[in-house]
Amino acid sequence: MSSGGKQDIYQGMKLIVTGGCGFIGSHFVRLALRRLRTGQVVNLDCLTYAGRGRNLADLDGDRRYRHVRVDIASPAAAERVIKEKPDAVVNFAAESHVDRSIRTALPFLRANTLGAQNLLDAARETGARFVQVSTDEVYGSIEGRGRAREDWPLRPSSAYSASKAAADLCALAAHHTHGQEVVITRCTNNYGPWQFPEKLIPLMITNALHDLPLPIYGDGLQKRDWIHVEDHCRGVWLALQKGRAGQIYNFGMGSEPSNIGIVRQLLRILGKPESLIQHVKDRLGHDRRYAVDCRKAGRELGWKPQVRFAEGLERTVSWYRENVRWWLKLKDRAFREYYLKHYGSTLRQGALGGGGGR
Ligand code: NAD
Ligand code: DAU
Repeated sequence: MSSGGKQDIYQGMKLIVTGGCGFIGSHFVRLALRRLRTGQVVNLDCLTYAGRGRNLADLDGDRRYRHVRVDIASPAAAERVIKEKPDAVVNFAAESHVDRSIRTALPFLRANTLGAQNLLDAARETGARFVQVSTDEVYGSIEGRGRAREDWPLRPSSAYSASKAAADLCALAAHHTHGQEVVITRCTNNYGPWQFPEKLIPLMITNALHDLPLPIYGDGLQKRDWIHVEDHCRGVWLALQKGRAGQIYNFGMGSEPSNIGIVRQLLRILGKPESLIQHVKDRLGHDRRYAVDCRKAGRELGWKPQVRFAEGLERTVSWYRENVRWWLKLKDRAFREYYLKHYGSTLRQGALGGGGGR
């Protein structure tokens, strides 16, 4: 697999990365700066509850990196893209949590769909190449139907995945109508350091560390194809470098553990009892299975995942153990209010997750 060198056609150039203060975006910013000896990365991120400037504190003093606090759906973001004249825009910025989209859909349409179109329009004006970071959720739930290829129809089930599918269609339309250089990536579920503790794996680790209940939706037999965030970022980097305009590339591991299986694995690593598991009311419209066919990314980009799940999970648990202060700050009052509203009625009394703790 490529790791830079000759293939880094963006050497010396300027990249705009959006959503770089979030989970995957922050890993991608670091990867880009490791690969670019020269050049610049400008991170457009408005810092929602999920974004933290300090997630990239290790880049303090690196003159190749700048963060600009701006909403990608605003005219100011379009003006900024045009002013920066980047060589490429990589769009990670999004509202990303399915459960929140079930409660309140509009912020998802604004950030994920209008934001993407706003950036596409601005990138077209400057001639910048555009990578739209999408998700395997746009294919919907895949039950007994093999693995989704890039040409499968879009069947999103939540407001989150519908807003991402709409952005994919906007990106493809920009390519079709204007010949814009657009590439779309669709990855499976990511895990790793710096993931906001509302998502399954970090929520289960952080709750278990405090001996709090682990809420499993329904029977817990839903399947996801978990991939380490670094493998995803390597894929996006290759798509930026080598992806053909107007094309879509899937990324995934090709394995499908169940949610309950993962939680049991985490409990074994943490040395905590299975009695912490608590089955709660199922997510509305819950997709049972995601699975993608990644052969195109292997063939055209030379991409292959490198981190084995068992090893990645062990490393992730260690990271959350060693960075308690980071995630405790995120389990703040706003998080506790969200948690209470979302899980409160189904969890045992007095068992709500949240800041402070032991
Ligand atoms: P995240 O929620 O951790 O981070 C999102 C970041 O985007 C935050 O820093 C937030 O402040 C920023 N943001 C949100 N709305 C914005 C706006 N309107 N303007 C500017 N910044 C804004 O999300 P993540 O899990 O890192 O996901 C990043 C991208 O990858 C998303 O587009 C998501 O759809 C996609 N994706 C995620 C996964 C996954 O498993 N997490 C898998 C496949 C694809
Ligand atoms: O597939 C890619 C997608 O993966 C990304 O596009 C999304 O941004 C990302 O959030 C993720 O979506 P999921 O809904 O699959 O991830 P989440 O971590 O929220 O849930 C994973 C599974 O675990 C899902 O089947 C729901 C279940 N779950 C989740 C939570 C938060 C529980 O059983 N209990 C929980 O408390």
